[in-house]
Formats: sequence, C-alpha cells, structure tokens
Amino acid sequence: MTTEHTPVPYTGPQRVLSGVQPSGDLHLGNYLGALIKFVALQDQMECLYCVVDLHAITQWQDPKQLTRQTREIAAAYMAAGVDPKKAIIFPQSAVPEHTELAWIFQCVARLGWLDRMTQFKEKTGKHKERHSVGLYTYPVLQAADILVYKATHVPVGEDQRQHLELTRDIAAKFNHDFEAPAFFPLAQALVEGPGARIMSLRDGSVKMSKSDPSDQSRITLTDDADAIASKIRKARTDPEPLPSDEDGLKGRAEADNLVGIFAALSGQTKAQILATYAGQGFGQSFKPDLANLLVEKLAPVSAEMRRLLADPAEIDRTLAAGAEKARAIAAPIVADTKKLVGFWPG
Ligand code: TYM
Repeated sequence: MTTEHTPVPYTGPQRVLSGVQPSGDLHLGNYLGALIKFVALQDQMECLYCVVDLHAITQWQDPKQLTRQTREIAAAYMAAGVDPKKAIIFPQSAVPEHTELAWIFQCVARLGWLDRMTQFKEKTGKHKERHSVGLYTYPVLQAADILVYKATHVPVGEDQRQHLELTRDIAAKFNHDFEAPAFFPLAQALVEGPGARIMSLRDGSVKMSKSDPSDQSRITLTDDADAIASKIRKARTDPEPLPSDEDGLKGRAEADNLVGIFAALSGQTKAQILATYAGQGFGQSFKPDLANLLVEKLAPVSAEMRRLLADPAEIDRTLAAGAEKARAIAAPIVADTKKLVGFWPG
C-alpha cells in the first residue's frame, strides 16, 4: 500500500474546538492560556467551546458541585467575551457522540502511545493502580472531542501539546486503517503567546494549577482586588533587579513568569515590559503595576460571571441550545465514521 506515504490534504471547513474542565475555580493560566484565545478566534472561524464534564469525572467530583461548576465555566467563557451568538457553548456530556467516537478511537490508539502521556504520570505519581481507567484513556476522549467536529484548530496552553500530538496520531491512523485519506483533519494546536505556560506564583518550576494545595500559588477569576494585590506582593522572585533584555531572564523562572504574565495581560512583548522596568527591584513599581493591571483585567470578568450566575436558567438555555447545534455537526460525522468502520447496516 502506498497510502501511508502520500498525505492527502484535508479540504473540509476550518473549525475551532476547545474545552475546560469544571473541576475547580478557573485561574490566570486558564484565562491567558485558553479563554482569551477563545474570544479572539470567534470572529475568524466557526468555534465550539465545551465544558468537559466527562473529563472532570476521571477524578472524583461531588455530583452536587459538578452541575454548578459546569454553569460556572460556561459563565466564565461568556464573561471573558465568548458570545454565544457567534460560538457554540455546550456541556460535553450533552453530546453523546463524544463518547461514541471515543470508543472507536480507543480501538485505534495504541497502549504504547498512552504510556507516554506525561500528564497521566504527573497526576498519578507512584500509584497509578489507584486511579480510574478513565484517567488513563482521558487523551483518547480529548481526541474524540476534537475530531467529532473535524476541528482543525485547538487553542490550548502548552500543557496540552502532547495530547494534541496524540490526536493527530489517532486521526492519521484511523484515516490509514480505514483507507479514508484526509477523513479526519490533523488538528493544529494554537499554543503560541506569552500566556501559554503560566507558572505557580510560589515556584517557577511548576505550572499554575487548580490542584496546587496552596491558594497563594494561583490567581483565580474570583479573587478580589485585595487578594490579587497580596498574592502578587508575596509572589516569589529573586534578589536581582529586573534585567534589561529577555536573555537576562534565563535561569530566573519566577522573574520570567511575572514578566510573561505582565506581557500577556497588556498585549505587549516581554522586551517591551523590560524596557520600562529594567534595573528596578520587583517591589518598586513592577509588582504594584502588575497587581493593578490584573485587577483592571480580571475584575470586570468576575463581575460579569457573578451577574450571569445570578440567572442559572439563562445559562442553561444557552447550554441546551449549544448542545443542539453541536449535535447537528457531530451526528453526521459519527454516522460516516461508523460506516467506514463497517458497523451494521453498512
Ligand atoms: P484544563 O481544564 O486543565 O485547562 C483548560 C485550559 O487552560 C490551559 N491551562 C494553562 N495555560 C497556561 N498556563 C497554565 N498554567 C495553564 N493551566 C491550564 C490548558 O492548557 C487548557 O487549554 N484536557 C484539557 C481539556 C480538554 C480539551 C479537550 C482541550 C478536554 N477536551 C479538547 C482542548 C480540546 C484540560 O484538562 O484542560
């Protein structure tokens, strides 16, 4: 067979898909790594943004909290600027085609591919036998989320890059195994920008995360101005002044992270930020200016989230309408996939 070596270009429509787990308060990393990209893309292509509740239950979620957190993430999307008239917002579990395609993909993906996934290793540590099977096959479901819409672009933070590579491997193997060149696109991760990897405020070597036990390590979308100012004031730095160029940030993970956050929030480059603050200590005006900028950018988002969450029925209407639109795209793609696989009636 020659098909393996003759790539056929994908010619379907360009489409964006991404998702966030409803498993805790959203933080600055989610905002800069994902949400602000969601907003920018909605004017460029058809966009689908799901709240990935199926992914959330790979680790225990209190059922009473899960529904509420799903509405919260939907509210955060809209508060950040995603417009449900332009983009489709929906809960993953309301579109059963995701899990249907995920099963087919579990039979396409190889164990060796999943064994390489670093996030699984990070999440399970030494005791993988105590974790759910779902946590292990999680990236396969993620591939299904993307390919059930034949999405071509996926805005995510740096930590999702490996899952996107797996998604491409699954797409390529499916296309090859079922002799359907370019049936699924090889989706591209949109990772670039200074917000792609926001680190903990307490330790520049680990990413900012919902699961970090220290609340001081992250800024959440619900933090008020005082909490933001205090977290930035206490954010770890080193005794050296701010350098005059990006080379001077090498080996200074905490300094690099704070300058990156400043750049991502202000829409400037790190070099531009350094041009303003070079030679100064962090506490002088850099940290107060950064805290003010964070409050200026995040306060309207959290105020809008509160306003939206006061009317859960309206959020539910948006999610239900989104799920219906999403299913209308996914159902024929899954039907075609099943035909290719040879499921009855063929
Ligand atoms: P989740 O819920 O952990 O994170 C949501 C988004 O936030 C980004 N992110 C960060 N970006 C920069 N710096 C950080 N410290 C940081 N922490 C998180 C993540 O990269 C992500 O874009 N598996 C995904 C959810 C998912 C998904 C999908 C994404 C499920 N299906 C399909 C895209 C397409 C996750 O757990 O994201």
